[in-house]
Amino acid sequence: MTLPPDQVRAMFDRITPAYDRMNRLMSLGMDGSWRALAVRASGVAPGDAALDVCCGTGDLAIELLDAVSTRGRVVGLDFSEAMLDAARRKSSQIEWLRGDALALPFADGEFAAATIGFGMRNLADPLRGFAELARVVRPGGRVVCLELTDPPAWAAPFARLWTDRAVPLLGRLIARETDAYRYLPASVHRFPPADELAAVMSRAGLRRVRFRRLSGGAVAVHVGTVPA
Ligand SMILES: C[S@@+](CC[C@H](N)C(=O)[O-])C[C@H]1O[C@@H](n2cnc3c(N)ncnc32)[C@H](O)[C@@H]1O
Repeated sequence: MTLPPDQVRAMFDRITPAYDRMNRLMSLGMDGSWRALAVRASGVAPGDAALDVCCGTGDLAIELLDAVSTRGRVVGLDFSEAMLDAARRKSSQIEWLRGDALALPFADGEFAAATIGFGMRNLADPLRGFAELARVVRPGGRVVCLELTDPPAWAAPFARLWTDRAVPLLGRLIARETDAYRYLPASVHRFPPADELAAVMSRAGLRRVRFRRLSGGAVAVHVGTVPA
């Protein structure tokens, strides 16, 4: 189980000012390329409507906007008002919306694709999270999940050292925050491994589910297609 939603929201409200800086540091500068790859995996094209859930400070949604162009539509949804404020400062061309990933305020099939980046691990019910993403994507469209995952055996000792030791230390030094950057490794360890996550996506109704490990394997991008 993750923390109760109110505590997750309060935690992200609190860490917003240091969030982007911490992401660059924790990912050794690779998070931008991971998000670009997630957007390519979504298959969106100019003119499409795309949704980014758990959008945080907005970087993945902004990447989606590049792909759909100004002819398209991008909605970024998050339940942290502080995160949304930071996102609003970055782009006025995206619809930034406060809402719950487990009860999306959209019609069935409203979007060509939906993404979620480093958000699924925070949801109380990943199966329902995927089912909601699948519901709001049109038949044939894709759901993409970018997330931290169990690394392959050869990378596990380094990944553990980094996630369990370095990340909490960086959090304390850079973000002046202890709890959130202890919560992060704990949330990674209790999250389903990549193959189990793929099975959760299939149970949520997605088809042709596949995943690819990135940057040594501690991050994965999962893609599923909404059946016709
Ligand atoms: C680790 S951040 C990821 C932000 C962004 N997607 C990125 O790539 O950096 C997780 C985000 O999920 C949001 N979140 C967690 N649970 C949520 C829920 N049930 N509904 C909406 N947003 C949620 C948090 O507020 C936070 O902004």
